[in-house]
Amino acid sequence: MAEPRKSTGKRITAATVRADFNDPVAVVHYARAAHRLGLWASERQLIERAFPDRGARLLELGCGAGRVTLGLWELGYRRLTAIDFAAELVAQALALVTERGVHGVDLFRADATRMPLAAEDDPAARLRCRRVPRFDGALFMFNGLMQIPGRARRRRALREIHRLVAIDAPLLFTTHDRDDSREERLLWKLEARRWARGQQDPRLVDFGDRYFEDEAGRTFMHLPTRDEILEDLAATGWRSEYDIMRRHVARESAAVRDFSDECRFWLARALPE
Ligand SMILES: C[S@@+](CC[C@H](N)C(=O)[O-])C[C@H]1O[C@@H](n2cnc3c(N)ncnc32)[C@H](O)[C@@H]1O
Repeated sequence: MAEPRKSTGKRITAATVRADFNDPVAVVHYARAAHRLGLWASERQLIERAFPDRGARLLELGCGAGRVTLGLWELGYRRLTAIDFAAELVAQALALVTERGVHGVDLFRADATRMPLAAEDDPAARLRCRRVPRFDGALFMFNGLMQIPGRARRRRALREIHRLVAIDAPLLFTTHDRDDSREERLLWKLEARRWARGQQDPRLVDFGDRYFEDEAGRTFMHLPTRDEILEDLAATGWRSEYDIMRRHVARESAAVRDFSDECRFWLARALPE
């Protein structure tokens, strides 16, 4: 067996991902989508199904430049809190909602793994936290949860969201699925061999990670299996209600398919603590 390659690149951290999202290339990419693209047809359908009450108090994580935030507002949701850990994207989202005359959205910079909020009815709430009534639902759209490096940190984000929502509240999010196609299964088989020999990209954290560069800038993404997400949900207080590949929800426009790959939607519900 070949010797493991000596590590040359630095391991990807949350700081790497945040810097990549604050990079002007990424900021322009996501701001353009927020201004021009709006919600995908599949997102619209699943949001309306998951949150039938327009008066629901919703928490959107990884809001980026506000594409989904504005979409939620346009669908009639008015009690919105939106966060992202990339300051440049939050600035874009704030500019967009102001430009479109959206009022009352609580939009600020925060890390999903360390939310600066405490649920009002949580006796263990940290004093330094801003207290909020428990949210009726949460969203982490367009794979933002999978852009958190390290499985333990992704689970921490799921626990943080769970801490802030009411029992039975829905969480809608998306991931890739590395078992979805035959081609992907073959590619991941080859990648597994590289990991077994210690010859994977030394910047990666877990098997299933990718770090690449395209028109959206540099992107870190963890591509999970379906079983992995089911385990993560079960370990963090969530019950999976359904999951479905995007192509089975709606046929997306060419513009949406240009902006985003196929993904799996997940709807989970918060179990009692
Ligand atoms: C693919 S972008 C999607 C942005 C936006 N929701 C959209 O659909 O256009 C993922 C977003 O998740 C954010 N994100 C990643 N990790 C995060 C974390 N730990 N806390 C908060 N936001 C995070 C990124 O800054 C980025 O804006």
